[in-house]
Amino acid sequence: SSSSNSSNSGNAATAVDGGEKKADPIIVKFSHVTTIDSPKGLASEKFKELAEKYTDGRVTVEVYPSSQLYGDKEELEAVQAGNVHIIAPSITKLVGMNPQFQYVDLPFLFKDNDAVYKFWESDANKKLMNSLDNYGVRLLAMWPNGFKQFVNGKYPLVTPADFKGLKFRVQAGSVLEAQFKALGAGSATIPFGETYTALQQGTVDATENTFNNIDTQKYAEVQKHLTVSNHGRLDYCIIVNTKFWDGLPGDIREALEKAMAEATDYAVELAEDLDQKSFENLKNAGMEVVELNEAQRAEFVKIMEPVVAEFESVIGKDIIDAARAANQ
Ligand code: LMR
Repeated sequence: SSSSNSSNSGNAATAVDGGEKKADPIIVKFSHVTTIDSPKGLASEKFKELAEKYTDGRVTVEVYPSSQLYGDKEELEAVQAGNVHIIAPSITKLVGMNPQFQYVDLPFLFKDNDAVYKFWESDANKKLMNSLDNYGVRLLAMWPNGFKQFVNGKYPLVTPADFKGLKFRVQAGSVLEAQFKALGAGSATIPFGETYTALQQGTVDATENTFNNIDTQKYAEVQKHLTVSNHGRLDYCIIVNTKFWDGLPGDIREALEKAMAEATDYAVELAEDLDQKSFENLKNAGMEVVELNEAQRAEFVKIMEPVVAEFESVIGKDIIDAARAANQ
């Protein structure tokens, strides 16, 4: 009702409504790049529902999916500037703020989902989460998506030799570049929202992503071959603008933190469920699937795993050790 909403000062403006004074809701803008039916899309809608419920409507959460408001490059700047209040970037995309976040890309670092959740509870990860303080943002929570797989347009990827000379779309960072280099392939950083077109037009030959991202982005329309490798992770961190967050009335902030904690539990359940559903969807969409057997997978491990040692000094031994301990 009032343009003062857009200032988002945290001090709600008042409006007179039938003689009764009623505060305008505080608007919380949440921007992300995946579709509404992805785990990130559904969990951010859950956060909206709970946040509005727990604040009795004193807060309105506006969720903008599918890079509608900001693409994955712009959203990091937008949250620092306070133009958006919450974002949920893939961890990799924080490489420019702290390259240690590239632990998520280290090949074959995590054994399964539980190892990832256990690592998130580690002191090494807590320290990493706090490392964004200097950027005017706070990392509130971690949400999963799943393990990454390979997709290729023209032929199946069965052995490391099949990668030679292909160009892969990657999210960002030198770890992913090194991973594909180890396989004899090239790579190009392309925003998520532009990747379908890049695959369609042949700007790149291939890519890697989770079952759900491959499914919800409809890569099956432009990529024929899926290789189930589980070679790396794709997960999210929930980032808020610190000034905005700390400027909220205490009871509101507490309600939002409760909503976030519950949305996080929901995200964990959802991601595992959607991961498997999306795998089925990809088969039904006509993708040809290669499920690497143990011997085939071992070849990839042998060629890609040296990337972990190569980046140990960048990522930090404490982080790699905590990830390995989480596999036990
Ligand atoms: C990607 O760029 O592939 C992912 O970061 C997209 C996402 O947010 O899941």
